[in-house]
Amino acid sequence: MQEFHPKTIIEPFRVRSVEPIRFTTLAERETALAQAGYNPFLLHATDVLIDLLTDSGTGAMSSRQWAGMIASDESYAGAASFYRFEAAVKDITGFRHVIPTHQGRAAEHILFAAIAKPGDVIPNNTHFDTTRAHVEATGAEARDQVIAEGRQPHLIHPFKGNMDLAALERTIAEVGRERIPCIMLTVTNNSGGGQPVAMANVRAVSEIARRNGIPFIIDACRFAENSFFIKLREEGYADKAPIDIARELFSYADGCTMSAKKDGMANIGGFLALNDDTLATRCRNLEILTEGFPTYGGMAGYDLEAIAVGLYEALDEHYLRYRLRSIEYLGDKLSKAGVPIVLPTGGHAVYLDARAMLPHIPATEYPAWALCNALYLVGGVRGVEIGSVMFGLQPDGSERPAALELVRLAFPRRVYTQSHVDYLAEVILAVNAQRNELPGYRIAWQAPVLRHFTIRMAPIRS
Ligand code: F0G
Repeated sequence: MQEFHPKTIIEPFRVRSVEPIRFTTLAERETALAQAGYNPFLLHATDVLIDLLTDSGTGAMSSRQWAGMIASDESYAGAASFYRFEAAVKDITGFRHVIPTHQGRAAEHILFAAIAKPGDVIPNNTHFDTTRAHVEATGAEARDQVIAEGRQPHLIHPFKGNMDLAALERTIAEVGRERIPCIMLTVTNNSGGGQPVAMANVRAVSEIARRNGIPFIIDACRFAENSFFIKLREEGYADKAPIDIARELFSYADGCTMSAKKDGMANIGGFLALNDDTLATRCRNLEILTEGFPTYGGMAGYDLEAIAVGLYEALDEHYLRYRLRSIEYLGDKLSKAGVPIVLPTGGHAVYLDARAMLPHIPATEYPAWALCNALYLVGGVRGVEIGSVMFGLQPDGSERPAALELVRLAFPRRVYTQSHVDYLAEVILAVNAQRNELPGYRIAWQAPVLRHFTIRMAPIRS
């Protein structure tokens, strides 16, 4: 008999604990959305059928993770759980110092407080919002330098998250190496569509950083997904295990920030990992102020255990194949039906292109917000607007349309099955069929910063 190679990629787990999801009527969703000020962030999660607001901290944990959590050590200092966590992070990243934090932004806060000051510039392929905010909080500039292909939603390129190396060199020449406290690379590039960075690009950024004596830090939130894209798409990696690809990726850097709520497969947690002894000491001292003693850093012992196991599970090849395929599967169905999305599909989310889908709604009436709300009303699906509500408000109070009007549908890890994805596709196609009737929105109330979280909107009925 020969080895059987099935075409169907199945969920590489069976379900032993289930969480019911609640079905609602259109009338109930209309009431819930109106009460939430037409802002999906303000909905009660129990009123949502399929929740794709984020892939952060929303994943399902494995029986092994739960077993580790039961056996955790909750000692304040020097807990065995910390040493298991530290060993896992060191084994995968190779960095010498592991500083636990309660989530990714806490690692960013500590790092930039330690290294950045007014007048500095930090290049990155694309800063995630919290990374940008922490850079800017120190008075430094967060400069996005993704390749030009990465800014074009419909263009197919295997590594749209790559750094523009020429632009990086120009930045160093322009501002001087002494004003660049670090160079960052976000893998995968979340704000740019969850697109991966090639190993060749990581190597090249590392070479530029070392030549100029600038530390190179990876925003590693989705390092496992990025490693698998390298395996699938980059020459020379097809036969390598994801963990070895990840180890090579980290070997080119001097440290990383990590939100364990993504490829740490945990519901909370993160870390900062560094090679530099002096910098690590400074960061640990800052950590005590905001996160806690350096062997727990804002987490319980059981959180450390969940991450110690989760980091390896995120690198499991069967899991990664299922993960990337679920996203691509939805992308394929939508593309075949003519629904415009960011291509190719990334590692953790499908991004719908609302500007292309709803040309009758001008940017001033927030087309991506309109699309996001229509998905909820039609199918109880919650996504997130990444468009002019999120990015349009300028520091001087004026409005400027965002570069793209997208709705991100981010997949929690190991939570939804293929039939959920089939249902999703059906909802999106139903919305697409009535796209010409969808109303735009106006702002009824907004906060001065990060307005999308609490904004209240109203549909514009003609
Ligand atoms: N970096 C990237 C690339 C991220 O995507 C996130 C979070 C962070 C840093 C911050 O990590 O949330 O643990 O503090 N992204 C989530 C999202 C919130 O929905 O994309 P955190």
